[in-house]
Amino acid sequence: MVMDVMAAAARIEAAGHRVIHMEVGQPAAPAPATAIAAAQAALASGRLAYTETLGIPTLRQRIARHYGETYQAEIDPARIAITTGSSAGFILAFLALFEPGDRIAVALPGYPPYRHIMRALGCEPVVIETDQETRWAITPESLLASHRKARLAGVLVASPANPTGTMMSAQALRDVIDAAQSAGIKVVSDEIYHGLDYAFPAATAARHCESAVIVNSFSKYFCMTGWRVGWMVVPEPLVRPIDRLQGNLAISVPTLSQIAAEAAFAGRAEMEEVKHGYERNRRILLDGLPKVGFDRILPVDGAFYLYADVSRFCSDSFDFAKRMLAETHVAVTPGIDFDPLRGQRFIRFCYAGSAAEMHEAVERIGNWLQR
Ligand SMILES: Cc1ncc(COP(=O)(O)O)c(C=O)c1O
Repeated sequence: MVMDVMAAAARIEAAGHRVIHMEVGQPAAPAPATAIAAAQAALASGRLAYTETLGIPTLRQRIARHYGETYQAEIDPARIAITTGSSAGFILAFLALFEPGDRIAVALPGYPPYRHIMRALGCEPVVIETDQETRWAITPESLLASHRKARLAGVLVASPANPTGTMMSAQALRDVIDAAQSAGIKVVSDEIYHGLDYAFPAATAARHCESAVIVNSFSKYFCMTGWRVGWMVVPEPLVRPIDRLQGNLAISVPTLSQIAAEAAFAGRAEMEEVKHGYERNRRILLDGLPKVGFDRILPVDGAFYLYADVSRFCSDSFDFAKRMLAETHVAVTPGIDFDPLRGQRFIRFCYAGSAAEMHEAVERIGNWLQR
């Protein structure tokens, strides 16, 4: 559905109009200058060879250090695997943890590729509907209730989540992990939006549980979507299987991107500025959208998403998003991509653009809804 919205937006732009893009979930800012400089230097030096399968050792060490600095968690660099974005991290995690036919719990609404990758690998995604009561996250009760109905082999948790932008408190995350472990359910934690937390600090599953597989990426906080580089923290017994899987599937992750990723850590001050921009944008939308009629918004804790209930305006958010785009030139994503059951009530705004765009979007939408 989002592809349809993007194609319609491209047609409007081709006709000479300016579209405010709030549909695509990626930062507008470039990678840190430190990352770009390191990549330029590496290109100038000539040869770019394969790296070790699990990644350049100094990058793996730098990521392990990041866990100490950010979460006070001690992680052995040997447990870090560099991946081609977190997308490849999911493939490796599911291949290493699960067998065809295994059932894996995921939250609805949720990022669609979780379900699609599981299916492509022969696993069965088991959706757990979340709501306001549980702050839009899987809880021990909902997980174990699903497990009692039919055995789950795994659960995937995400905080901050896409499309909701909601987060699990450290306690809520710990409680789900404990419940999963007591029932023999393996845990995968998508932490790709870590660093982009506004309501309270994001907690890592790595701090609480050595057997969870953590998937993370340079795409979002470090604004490096196109570099395709991410990482996993894997339990010690999975290091060798993941090494062999990646060695066969990819040999290694693009060397240039790994070099840039290591240097990205030196660009954190620049990325904090970008994050402050998201915080400003979040404020603009939280102040402005309720005034124009979007008064039912899920907790906007982190990432750069806002998920709004638009059922007072329409019964089909896909149609609503299409009309809004055609008449205001503001592009958003209909919820149906993220939630086949209740998504027709919701739209997702991505607020990774500029403050001026946020103000203008609120104004255009307000004028449209008043007509
Ligand atoms: C929740 C979530 N996880 C994972 C990804 C994959 O990102 P990447 O492969 O660029 O790391 C995305 C991308 O939008 C996402 O929103």
